Amino acid sequence: MNDPGTTMSLHGRHALVTGAASGIGRATALLFARAGAAVTVAHLARADEAQALVAEIVASGGRAQAIDADVSRSADVASLVATSAAALGPIDVLVNCAGIIQQKPFLETSDDDWRRMLDTDLGSVFLMCRAVLPGMVQRGDGVVINIASDLGILGRAEFAPYSAAKAGVIGLTRALAREFAPAIRINAIAPGPVDTQMLSTASMSAEWIAKEKDIPQARFAAPEEIAATALFLASDLARFYCGQVLGPNGGSVMP
Ligand SMILES: NC(=O)c1ccc[n+]([C@@H]2O[C@H](COP(=O)([O-])OP(=O)(O)OC[C@H]3O[C@@H](n4cnc5c(N)ncnc54)[C@H](O)[C@@H]3O)[C@@H](O)[C@H]2O)c1
Repeated sequence: MNDPGTTMSLHGRHALVTGAASGIGRATALLFARAGAAVTVAHLARADEAQALVAEIVASGGRAQAIDADVSRSADVASLVATSAAALGPIDVLVNCAGIIQQKPFLETSDDDWRRMLDTDLGSVFLMCRAVLPGMVQRGDGVVINIASDLGILGRAEFAPYSAAKAGVIGLTRALAREFAPAIRINAIAPGPVDTQMLSTASMSAEWIAKEKDIPQARFAAPEEIAATALFLASDLARFYCGQVLGPNGGSVMP
């Protein structure tokens, strides 16, 4: 029996996940589809990976669509939300997962570095929430999950814009949780190190990647371990969670 109050079923719901072509977003989209949600796989210029995910979901009997959008741009966000709802219905669950990281000594950080990070990792959450919340308010129901980072709590040398953006995500989550409660539940997840493309030498030194394992559990999480927290927060089991920051982090932060 599927009593919505006692299961993690997302049957009948439409979930939009940003950054869903890879990593944590991909694992979240897949898990949500397995839990019964119709899923919008929002991605930035990663059509092949996004379509492969959609095909995987559809092959196992689910519903999904891929939409290309830069979530740091207001016009893209407006069209993403409209297109997404037109095909799969009103957005019941929004997961803001898209993000970038950059390691740089603070004194070498350019205006462009700062703006790019803040626009992508924090501005996108603002834009997506502003676009999706009106529909949730109208229906008197909805869930938003924002992916922050343990660095938004801890801070880290040479990651100032990222740490600031992720701390901003936590502040934004708490303000919106208060403004839109009780109908809409808004929470954040602040993962520790996760084995994805983000933890790669494309944007971080090998030394820092090695140091990431200096946590009590001494390992990286699999993306699925973060997706599990997202599924819990999306489900009715988490109906008393409001403005919280859950920490699947291997012990990096113990508040
Ligand atoms: N990997 C980690 O250790 C870790 C730890 C804590 C938090 N996070 C956060 O988790 C989230 C997902 O990261 P991940 O680890 O899965 O890495 P990832 O690089 O696999 O995923 C990030 C996704 O965001 C997309 N993206 C980037 N800029 C975008 C834009 N402007 N518009 C739309 N999409 C955009 C990328 O294409 C990519 O698919 C990020 O917000 C990241 O900051 C990651």
